[in-house]
Amino acid sequence: MNTTVNTKRALDVVILAAGKGSRMHSSKPKVLHPIGGKTMLEHVIDAGCAMNSRSTHVVVGYGADQIQQHFEHKPSQADLVWASQDQQLGTGHAVQQALPAIDTSGNDNLVLILYGDVPLIKTETLARLIDQADASSLSLLTLITETPAGLGRIIRDEKDSIVAIVEEKDATDEEKTIQEINSGIMVVPAQSLDDWLAKVGNENQQGEYYLTDVIAMAAESGFTINATVIRDSFEVQGVNDKTQLALLERHYQMNNAEQLLEAGVSLRDPARLDIRGELIVGSDVEIDVNVIFEGDVTLGNNVKIGANVIVKDTSIGDGSKILAGSNIEGADIRSNASVGPYARVRPGTVLNDEVKIGNFVETKNAVLGKGTKAGHLAYIGDATLGENVNVGAGTIVCNYDGVNKHQSIIGNNVFIGSNSVLVSPVVLEDNAFIAAGSAINSDVPSDHLAVGRGKQRNIPGWKRPKKSEL
Ligand code: UD1
Ligand code: MG
Repeated sequence: MNTTVNTKRALDVVILAAGKGSRMHSSKPKVLHPIGGKTMLEHVIDAGCAMNSRSTHVVVGYGADQIQQHFEHKPSQADLVWASQDQQLGTGHAVQQALPAIDTSGNDNLVLILYGDVPLIKTETLARLIDQADASSLSLLTLITETPAGLGRIIRDEKDSIVAIVEEKDATDEEKTIQEINSGIMVVPAQSLDDWLAKVGNENQQGEYYLTDVIAMAAESGFTINATVIRDSFEVQGVNDKTQLALLERHYQMNNAEQLLEAGVSLRDPARLDIRGELIVGSDVEIDVNVIFEGDVTLGNNVKIGANVIVKDTSIGDGSKILAGSNIEGADIRSNASVGPYARVRPGTVLNDEVKIGNFVETKNAVLGKGTKAGHLAYIGDATLGENVNVGAGTIVCNYDGVNKHQSIIGNNVFIGSNSVLVSPVVLEDNAFIAAGSAINSDVPSDHLAVGRGKQRNIPGWKRPKKSEL
């Protein structure tokens, strides 16, 4: 739920994402791991793009091909410029790999530096940061924390002005007691950044080219260094392992839940809801526990979602309810419909107003007309059903002949008796009546009864088999 911010200056974004992330113990590059169903890198790209930047540069190294492939079909891809850093020689070196593709000449050109593994940064924070930088000043995002270990410390002089950043491994014991740390996110005038980085060396404990070394250079050149001290540490929390990934996921989900509650949605338990995509809600929506929304989901007014339900890429109209244990994907469910418990609604399903889908009913590529009911144990695939059709328990639309799929058409007010098989393609015209247990493989005209089953024989004097003696 980002806000787009207008900035007066020319801004380019550089996102560092070349690190391996060994502690994730995964063959997938770290920045491709998801938070809320979206890769960490996409979260960061979206935040950067919301700043109305001229261009977004992503520095990749480990797993570069995999990362670029992932973005090939994303709409934001057109705006991305990839820079490669074959060897991870440090954050300063990483930023340098992006600079040749950035116009650093203008006086007011600024570079916003973000980390691909710091996914929850908010656009409001970035807007504040950008506002505090210009041709003669930088801005840093810092955090005051009781657990600064491992992070770069902010060094201030007696006038409280920032004069340097010292990395933990290079810090004196006294510097290690400083609780203000560098988040890594900063805005730097482009031309100066280029000049300073050219001068950064690697004579330090890690033998790396530190981006943070430009701070002392800026201070010596008389630049003002502004700090935005952040309160919500989650915003600048980086992900190095699966524990941190899980922690940020829960934080992200709790934020989603709080926003829904504020918007008037009733959540039985805000801690037991996951949104992995975009959820749009109407008024008086009720959501029970352990519900997962994936992709783009829209819920109309007065929609009720039961416990243990998964809904993906689906829109659900006013007054409809999804009962416990149902799994819904790629469906268009209109108003006052009832689905479940334990229904499986698959892609291409359209349930018109007042449709009722009961337990253990599966639908796929199926359009059900207004008021149609399939109450129990049925499969409806590749079929169009009219209004007020009654689909009996155990009905199967047999759409697949082992090679091809076929379509069946069922008119209005058709009654399909229990345990019937409709061998597609068949057409059941309006008001057709199918006797229970029928195998239907030819069309049924309007107002006809179709009986497609063996005639019952009663055999008198039947003796039950006896258990044989050994
Ligand atoms: C960095 C900062 C430190 C800050 C901390 C915040 C420097 C020298 N230090 O330290 O002050 O407190 O982040 O988390 O900048 N990366 C590359 N190429 C490289 C090295 C890193 O792309 O050669 C990327 C990583 O993938 C990661 C980011 O830059 O996304 C930060 O790198 P990391 O190694 O985590 O830096 P820190 O040592 O934690
Ligand atoms: Mg780090």
